[in-house]
Amino acid sequence: MDNKKFDAIKEALEKDLVDVQDIKELNELKVKYLGKKGLITELNSEIKNIPNEDKKDFGLKVNELRNQFNEYYEMQKEKLDLEELNKRLENETIDISLPATRINLGAPNILEKLIEEVEEVFLSMGYDVVDGPEIEEDKYNFEMLNIPKGHPARDAQDTFYVEGEEILLRSQTSPVQVRTMLKGEGKVPIRMICPGKTYRRDDDDASHSHQFMQIEGLLVDKDISLSHLKGTMDVLFKRLFGNNVETRFRPSYYQFTEPSVEVDITCVNCHGKGCNVCKNTGWVTVVGAGVVHPNVLRMSGYDPNVWSGFAFGFGAERLAMLKYDINDIRTFYNADLRETNTFDREDEE
Ligand code: DAH
Repeated sequence: MDNKKFDAIKEALEKDLVDVQDIKELNELKVKYLGKKGLITELNSEIKNIPNEDKKDFGLKVNELRNQFNEYYEMQKEKLDLEELNKRLENETIDISLPATRINLGAPNILEKLIEEVEEVFLSMGYDVVDGPEIEEDKYNFEMLNIPKGHPARDAQDTFYVEGEEILLRSQTSPVQVRTMLKGEGKVPIRMICPGKTYRRDDDDASHSHQFMQIEGLLVDKDISLSHLKGTMDVLFKRLFGNNVETRFRPSYYQFTEPSVEVDITCVNCHGKGCNVCKNTGWVTVVGAGVVHPNVLRMSGYDPNVWSGFAFGFGAERLAMLKYDINDIRTFYNADLRETNTFDREDEE
């Protein structure tokens, strides 16, 4: 064989190897030299034309060339693979020095949070949480609660009239008692609370708001007395403010309960010692309540000789103000998120 051909192939290979730019070209070279019809492969078939005495040498040379190519191929492949990986990593890097988009996480409304806590306490005692309309009829807001037209008790609950004298924004959540009893159609027991917005024609100041939140409660069953009410209030306030809190009843007057009481709790600010929150009495009044008046039961279809019940109502803001040490009711109704966030964080500490 012509050694010339061998030398030409070797020379071409060395030149090709220097020019290789990437993996694709490297693989093409492999085919060109070692493929089925590759130049080095073809050299093998030349062996038969070589004189016997030179066959061995020629074979060794061809093998050496193949080994050189393979060695080079492996080395280059490793190098090119690495280069490609680095290039990819470079292109895919994320610039972590860019400022992230700030997401303002909301905090639950503090009043809603308190209402939910109250709901949980009553749900655990088997009560339903019900809803009632904010635009209410005089009949439910007053008359069926034993407050007839012209009754002086209406003066303290002057509200906003929507249409004539019959349709108004409810001044209390107590009408939901009536609606629940009418819907219950004489079925017992009734155990419900109703949180919701209420309205009065008040001038807004630190302790008055023309719109506020009440939570109403009603239980109707057999042989219900003030002691059931006392136990229920005890559970509520211990769960809200801790086991050291005590409750007491003071006589009061509401048209729809008889007897009526004010429920006081030991001042959560000074724990009964006396401070400006409790006006140095050690107690704060938080609930109006009583045993449901026979007239109210009768008007809503429950025979007062068979059934009895207790009812209560309180302002959600008042409790939230005590719990979160807020001294202005308007805090709940301005849209300053800093307040909500602050109280939320304090609560979690
Ligand atoms: N509705 C009363 C008010 O707004 C609060 C109240 C007192 C509700 C006694 C009741 C109750 O259910 O029995 O002042």
